[in-house]
Amino acid sequence: MRLLYIDIRWKTGLWRFCAGARTMLITFEGVDGSGKSTQIELLVSRLESSGHRVTLVREPGGTAVSESVREILLDKTHRITPFAELLLFSAARAQLCEEVIGPALAQGHVVVCDRFTDSTLAYQGGGRGAAPISWLRSFNERVTGGLVPDRTYYLAIDIQLARRRSTARLVGGDGESEDRMEASGEAFFKRVAAAYDELATEEPDRILRLDATLGVDAIHAQIRDDMAALVAARNRSTARR
Ligand code: TYD
Repeated sequence: MRLLYIDIRWKTGLWRFCAGARTMLITFEGVDGSGKSTQIELLVSRLESSGHRVTLVREPGGTAVSESVREILLDKTHRITPFAELLLFSAARAQLCEEVIGPALAQGHVVVCDRFTDSTLAYQGGGRGAAPISWLRSFNERVTGGLVPDRTYYLAIDIQLARRRSTARLVGGDGESEDRMEASGEAFFKRVAAAYDELATEEPDRILRLDATLGVDAIHAQIRDDMAALVAARNRSTARR
């Protein structure tokens, strides 16, 4: 019965109204090597220390099925067509939305997601040309059940610098090697970055473009201040209801 209730709220979008002020979906975007992970860690610990219940997920991944799909997607021995790649990323996301994100939002958690639908627009749309952006937007809507992030932090960075950072991480790291996506080449990443820039221009109210070359603390301060304003606005609108 409880599951059915959550399911109805979810399908109708009513969870947005039932879950109170803390229901927020925050996503992080940017090319590989833009420094998302550090900023995500800082934001999550800040949110938790100020009393929010936080669910942190990454894409592709976050459920058993989605993690299996992730392995297929990142395996360098696979040759995957652009459209098949789109469907695999989307399958992982559909599972994650239904199994984790929807229920977490319904329980009043702030959900922080390392990549979400904008990655599909930038990588599969801009990078691979798998389908037109307008088509991908409505496809994303079907995949997520209409879920749109309340705020997206986009870490913008020059591609060559991002690639140098990624390579340094791989060389100095724990023996990981480049995955299938990372091996896509500079021209691909330039198209991805251009697509991200365009998305940020098209949706300035949702996507906050941050200069990823600033220091870790300076970037975190911008995110922290923006989140504080977002939470305050949420609390005011909940109080008015
Ligand atoms: P990951 O190791 O998680 O990269 P990062 O640390 O940069 O987030 O690998 C995920 C890869 O999948 C990354 O190259 C971006 C890509 N991706 C897409 O191409 N489309 C998508 O919809 C998503 C979610 C990720």
